[in-house]
Amino acid sequence: MILAPSILSADFARLAEQVAEAKAGGAGMVHVDVMDGHFVPNITLGPPIVKSLRKATDLPLDCHLMIENADRWVDAFVDAGAGWVSVHVEAVPHLERTVAHLKSRGAKAGVAINPATPLVALEEILPELDYVLVMSVNPGFGGQTFIPSTLDKIRRLRAQVQARGLHTRIEVDGGVDASNVARVVEAGAEIVVAGNAVFGQGDAAAAARRMLEAGR
Ligand code: DX5
Ligand code: ZN
Repeated sequence: MILAPSILSADFARLAEQVAEAKAGGAGMVHVDVMDGHFVPNITLGPPIVKSLRKATDLPLDCHLMIENADRWVDAFVDAGAGWVSVHVEAVPHLERTVAHLKSRGAKAGVAINPATPLVALEEILPELDYVLVMSVNPGFGGQTFIPSTLDKIRRLRAQVQARGLHTRIEVDGGVDASNVARVVEAGAEIVVAGNAVFGQGDAAAAARRMLEAGR
């Protein structure tokens, strides 16, 4: 499993330090939650923070765009240093074009899917994707409770990826902590996002280690 701590739960005044702590604990990438106050009821950050983070760490930056009009913004995030970019299937009308564009820019292209959106919405685009970001909470806030039915959704997605001979990776995001990470990995997640479970616990390095230990 690759642990992708979400900076949403970090101290934004000490981002570089917090990311370095998470890396020391074994984090393999940094999850950056971008919210626009339209697609989700919260506002977070934009490309300038990504640009600063790019200088502060050598970990891949995984930008999760919870925004409308994503086509207008993807280049700015790639230019700022995002190596992985996911857009929401519920928010992007011409997904094939968006995904092709991201790949043409050299970024890993992902599509995020909300808890109530059925997997069939990804059926046609799946072969084009580097990863699927399965939401295990309704996006908008850190520290929410994991929705248990997500485990079955991850298993069904894993089965589809295997049956179709694809190499699409599965990332899971929301409410994952040391008590449920083993089940999330067992269901088929390869990349696990954790905000509160890493940055809400005091020592981020120790918390990241606990997550990786529990997820093995
Ligand atoms: C939710 C975000 C998640 C969230 C994860 O909208 O996409 O990345 O911050 O945080 P936790 O692990 O605290 O649920
Ligand atoms: Zn996220």
